[in-house]
Amino acid sequence: MATNLIAQFERPAAAVPACAPVSLLDLKAQYAGIKDEVLDAVHRVLASQQLILGPEVEAFETEIARYVGTQFAVGCGSGSDALLLTLMALGVGPQDEVITSPFTFGATAGAIARLGARPVFVDIHPETFNLDERQVEAAMTMRTRAIMPVHLFGLPANMDVIIEIATHHKLPVIEDAAQAIGSKWNGRSIGTLGNFGCFSFFPSKNLGGAGDGGMITTNDPQMANVVRTLRAHGTRRKYHYDLVGINSRLDTLQAAILRVKLRHLDEWTEARRRNAVRYRELFAEYDLLELILLPGNPDASFHVYNQYTIRAPQRDQLIVYLREQGISTEVYYPSPLHLEPAFACLSYGTGSFPHAEAACNEALSLPIYPELTAAQQEAVAYAIARFYSH
Ligand SMILES: Cc1ncc(COP(=O)(O)O)c(C=O)c1O
Repeated sequence: MATNLIAQFERPAAAVPACAPVSLLDLKAQYAGIKDEVLDAVHRVLASQQLILGPEVEAFETEIARYVGTQFAVGCGSGSDALLLTLMALGVGPQDEVITSPFTFGATAGAIARLGARPVFVDIHPETFNLDERQVEAAMTMRTRAIMPVHLFGLPANMDVIIEIATHHKLPVIEDAAQAIGSKWNGRSIGTLGNFGCFSFFPSKNLGGAGDGGMITTNDPQMANVVRTLRAHGTRRKYHYDLVGINSRLDTLQAAILRVKLRHLDEWTEARRRNAVRYRELFAEYDLLELILLPGNPDASFHVYNQYTIRAPQRDQLIVYLREQGISTEVYYPSPLHLEPAFACLSYGTGSFPHAEAACNEALSLPIYPELTAAQQEAVAYAIARFYSH
């Protein structure tokens, strides 16, 4: 099918897209555009020598709360710690269960397991890669303490149904929003829909620092206070310990850099979304829409494309072919969490979550970063079309 179209689109040799290498992400391109602003922010912090918490972190917390639309935002050391601190604040521990997705980064379930609680997985929707909300109720037991949907790749999970179930069962919802800052469900920003939003500022995220960082958003003043205490050794007054906490403060230098980047986030998100539209057009031109499955984008959702993840037949051969053409891709994720050794004690087996398992064999993330050029995207689409024409 793609063969004819390749012939039709075949250009003279000189006009064949020759933009390789195309990397999965080009943070140097982003830095080049904001270097002066970032260096100013770094110098400001170094000049102040206020290196732990302080006004930069407070200002960034206020800005994130405003951006996301919650009353409170509490910075912490990473997205993983945002999840951990939230679960700690809820008192989740041994004998407790938290419902989440098996098709996610390990930290989602890891945060639950680190507290001695049990991650209870439900399968995903094959089109969106997100937890299948219709299976949540069946996974509940007397021990269920929270629901933790993941807004994977920047696409919100079905929050209407999840919140309805959680409200009915009086359970808190912890949104793993690590990959999804700026995304919306029915016009409402993720991180405001559940009781807590947990964000990551890992460098590859849409709002990425120059190192690790994380944030918890909530409208609950008491819980905001508890996570704020827990992130700083459980202290509210120096050398007095109200709670058993951890050291997980958002680094002040990171906060200053992230404040700069936050100012550009919406324009970067729009560029990602434009790139997603362009991929669709290119794949349609090459008649690939029945061969590869493009990222799902339900009407209610505003996708921010932290990753542009397709489902592709012969995925592993395609990766090799693209690599030979100088095009980098990544498999998020090669294995579902329930089949990983770290979670073997949960006693799930192969076949427990067929959609998650199938996704691991077919999912392929293509370059989507804001600075990606139209010519680079053409090179990616052209290479994929060529692969399937053989
Ligand atoms: C879905 C998800 N949850 C949690 C995390 C953990 O975030 P961090 O790397 O900031 O600890 C990540 C980071 O990759 C993630 O993608």
